[in-house]
Amino acid sequence: MSKSKSSFVCQNCGAITQRWQGKCDSCGEWNTIVEEAVSAGIGAAIARNSLAGRAFALEDLTGAARAEARIVTGIAELDRVAGGGFVPGSVALIGGEPGIGKSTLLIQACAALAKKGGRVVYISGEESTSQVRLRAERLGLSASPVQLAAQTGVEDIVATLTSGDKPKLVVIDSIQTMWSGAIESAPGTVSQVRGSAQALIRFAKQSGAAIILVGHVTKDGQIAGPRVVEHMVDAVMSFEGEGAHAFRILRASKNRFGATDEIGVFEMTGGGLSEIANPSALFLAGRDGSSPGAAVFAGIEGARPLLVEIQALVAPSTLGTPRRAVVGWDSSRLAMILAVLEAHGGLKLGQYDIYLNVAGGLKIAEPAADLAAAAALISSLVGVALPHDSVYFGEIGLSGAVRSVAHAGLRLKEAAKLGFTGAIAPPLAQKEKGEASRLSVSPIASVGSLVAQIAAAGVDRGKTALRVTK
Ligand code: TYD
Ligand code: MG
Repeated sequence: MSKSKSSFVCQNCGAITQRWQGKCDSCGEWNTIVEEAVSAGIGAAIARNSLAGRAFALEDLTGAARAEARIVTGIAELDRVAGGGFVPGSVALIGGEPGIGKSTLLIQACAALAKKGGRVVYISGEESTSQVRLRAERLGLSASPVQLAAQTGVEDIVATLTSGDKPKLVVIDSIQTMWSGAIESAPGTVSQVRGSAQALIRFAKQSGAAIILVGHVTKDGQIAGPRVVEHMVDAVMSFEGEGAHAFRILRASKNRFGATDEIGVFEMTGGGLSEIANPSALFLAGRDGSSPGAAVFAGIEGARPLLVEIQALVAPSTLGTPRRAVVGWDSSRLAMILAVLEAHGGLKLGQYDIYLNVAGGLKIAEPAADLAAAAALISSLVGVALPHDSVYFGEIGLSGAVRSVAHAGLRLKEAAKLGFTGAIAPPLAQKEKGEASRLSVSPIASVGSLVAQIAAAGVDRGKTALRVTK
């Protein structure tokens, strides 16, 4: 009889070392290496007993294609991110910070689906059934025929799911709490998470049930546990939001059965998560278009156009080194825009504190926001409000030129839909404007002309606050 061997596995990245170390050489994390039994894991028994393989029938590509209908939960924003509903037999992993609303979203999805018929199972490894029931009651979902359990043993879960009708959808909340008796390590370790995920994925493929796994995230936003779980599942989604704001965004970073550029937008309310079919209206709510320093940016999140207000405040500084603070945008991007405004726009900004904020708590990563940020900055500096019915988009190069950005047509369409009548955009955007659109596109070729345009508007309105030195 061979002695059961052990190896040392990093709980952060899954790297294996021969002896214990304080620091993982692979990912650089401290105190993450834990001793785990090697004999553990699916397939270990086969290796030990060197069983002869069993031949199986092969199929060809043209064989009876099983175009099974997708499982549509009825929560449109979730179905959209899944690629038009969940594919039977597929496994999706949803990650997100604690308290962001993963359990809320999934119990709502389960309830909506169960109402339409079919077996829907929600297994919680974190909360008791009465806690889950309490939440469902608060959400007004307690009448829905969802099957609940508070269990963590994967073998028991698979046995329960196998008996009775084939489940349509199974939610496992969360994969980090699951453990398999076939694996010797403690629950929560890399081997356990991987082994449990493997067992559940095998069940999904065999039974045709769709499974959604909830995953915890580490402090830097990665899904905790081995990255291999992300490779094993069919789709990886993340549920994001800003603590102080009610909106939540669901994004797919991997999807074998759909596009990864779709996003779903929700709002956390007293009655659970509600879908936001028109996110631009949410981000523009409460906008005061008459004061200087605010520009509406026509952005794209995933594949969806999204209008959001960019606010700037430029105020004389009393400090030796003026302050530069950014919320929701990249601070090095702001530094670049300021340098370009000084070099090519003729502005002197060295004596001013500068603050930039993306309203509503959204984080923007697109370079297309450059023009809107620049317009907001100039507007605040010269004290002239920008036209309240116009949107801005375009990338600014180091030469001061305004460059084209992708999806100009989509941006213009969204702006027109929300009642905007003008757009200040790169020269080529005009071509992408639909025939029917009443929106007038004013092409802008450089930051120099943007400064001149805003300054001219100020002169028209009798303002002479312009501090431009050409
Ligand atoms: P939860 O779904 O438990 O988060 P997760 O599973 O991602 O950890 O959501 C918990 C938060 O959601 C909690 O802070 C309260 C808030 N919440 C509401 O605002 N309204 C509601 O109707 C519910 C159920 C939760
Ligand atoms: Mg939860």
